[in-house]
Amino acid sequence: MSQGASDRDRREVGIDALGVYTPRLALSLEDLARARGIAPEKVTVGLGAHTMAVAPPWEDAVTLGASAAARALARGGVAADEIGLLLLATETAVDHAKPASIFLHELLGLPTSCRTFELKHACYGGTAGLMVATEWLRSGAARGRKALVVASDIARYDIGSSAELTQGAGAAALVVSEAPRLLRLDPASGVYASQVYDFWRPLDRREALVDGKFSLDCYLTALDGALADYHRSHAGHAGATRDAGAGSGGSAHEREDAAGAPLADRLAAFLYHTPFPKMAYKAHLRLMESEWRRWGRAADLLGEAAERSYSGQVEPWLTMARQVGNTYTASLYLCLAWLAEQQGRALAGREIALFSYGSGCCAELFTGHLQPGCGEIAATIGAADLLRARRLLSVEEYEALSREAGGSRAPEPHEAGFCHLAAIRDHKRIYERAACPA
Ligand code: CAA
Repeated sequence: MSQGASDRDRREVGIDALGVYTPRLALSLEDLARARGIAPEKVTVGLGAHTMAVAPPWEDAVTLGASAAARALARGGVAADEIGLLLLATETAVDHAKPASIFLHELLGLPTSCRTFELKHACYGGTAGLMVATEWLRSGAARGRKALVVASDIARYDIGSSAELTQGAGAAALVVSEAPRLLRLDPASGVYASQVYDFWRPLDRREALVDGKFSLDCYLTALDGALADYHRSHAGHAGATRDAGAGSGGSAHEREDAAGAPLADRLAAFLYHTPFPKMAYKAHLRLMESEWRRWGRAADLLGEAAERSYSGQVEPWLTMARQVGNTYTASLYLCLAWLAEQQGRALAGREIALFSYGSGCCAELFTGHLQPGCGEIAATIGAADLLRARRLLSVEEYEALSREAGGSRAPEPHEAGFCHLAAIRDHKRIYERAACPA
C-alpha cells in the first residue's frame, strides 16, 4: 500500500448519528402462521422471528426513509446545511427514473449544493452508500460537510408464499462524517461479488421473487468470500500502518492478529444482515467454523465456543430484526441501532464487525470502533420507543391493507411519521409533511 493510501486511512471517518424508523402497524407472525396452517414454532424456533412491521398505503421507501433521516438530523443535532451528499439506498424504488433521494432532499430542506442519487444492489445498497460516503470523506472532497446515507425498504412477497413470513418494513439513516460520535470505521473491509439468481423483483412486480433455500446458500458463500477478503485487507492495512510508524509495535489488534486470535476473541459484537434472526445464527456458526480453521483451533471446542459467542456477541442485537422483520437495506443498521441504544455506553471503545449481504449478489464484511462517549448520541436513537408505540393488526386487517393502493388513504396523526404519501396524481407522487416532525 502506498504512503498516500495510509494517510487516507488515518482520517477518522464513520457514523456520527443514526436514526431509525418503522411503520406504526405490526402483525404477530404466530397469528400469520396459524392463519396459513403452519405450526407457530416454525416462526418462533425455525426462523427465530416474532412480529413483522406492516407498511400501510401512506408509507413507501420515501416516507420511511425521510422519517428515519429527520430523526437522525433532529435528534443528532445535525443541521440540514451541513449535508453535502445524500444517498438513498432501496430495492423498493418508487420510480424507474426519478430517484427517491430527491424527495428526501426537498422534505428535509437540504441545500441545493448537495450531490444526491439513489443506489440499488438489493440489501447491500445501504452499505454501498456508506462506503461511497466514507470514500468521499476520506478523499477530502467533502470540504468539512457530512453525508446522509438512508437505507429504506418494504419487504413484500406474495401472500401465502413461504417467504410471506419473512416480510417487514423500516429504514435507517446514517449521518457519516469526520470525527464521528458513534462508530469510527476501520479502513479494512472484505468484499465478495458473484452473479446469482437468488432473489429478484422484475420491474413490473411489487412483490419480490426468491429461490429461498438457494438464497441461504448464496448468503453463506458470500460470507466465506467476504471474510477471506477481510483478512487480506486487514493484513494489508496493518502492514502499511506498521511501515508508516516503524518501531511503534503496532496497535493492540494487530498484535492480537499476529498472535493468531479468531475475530470472536478480538471483537465485542457481530452484526449481520438479518432477513430473519435464524439467518444470523447460521451465518455466525459459519464464520466461527471458518475462523477456527484459519487459526488451527481444536475442532472439539468449536461447538461450545460458537454457541457462547452467538449468545453474547450476536443474539442480543437481533431484537429489532425479530420485531420488525426483514427491512432489506436497513436490516444491518437496525441491528447497529439496537446495539448502540442498549449497550453503546458499556461497549464504548470496543471494535465490532458488520456483515452486509445483498442478493444477486454483493457482500461486505467491515469493522469499526464504537467511539468513546458514544452512549450520549446512542441514547437519542429511540428504537425501543418506536417498537412500543406500534399497534398490532389482525391477519384480516393486514391482508386488506396489502391490497390497498399507495396514497389511497390518509393516516391518523398518531399513525404517521415525519411525512406521508398523500396521493398519486398523473403518475406523480405527492408527499405531505407532518405538523410535528421527527
Ligand atoms: N418447529 C420448529 N422448527 C421448524 C418447524 C417446526 N414446526 N417447521 C420448520 N422448522 C424449521 C426448519 O427446520 C428450518 O430450520 P433450519 O433452516 O434450521 O433447518 C426453518 O424452520 C425454516 O423451515 P423451511 O426451510 O421448511 O421453511 P421454508 O421452506 O418456508 O423457507 C425461507 C424458509 C427459505 C427462509 C423462506 O421464508 C424464504 O424464501 N424467505 C425469503 C428469502 C430469504 O429471506 N433469504 C435469506 C437469504 S437471502 C438475503 O438475506 C437477502 C434478503 O434479505 C432477501
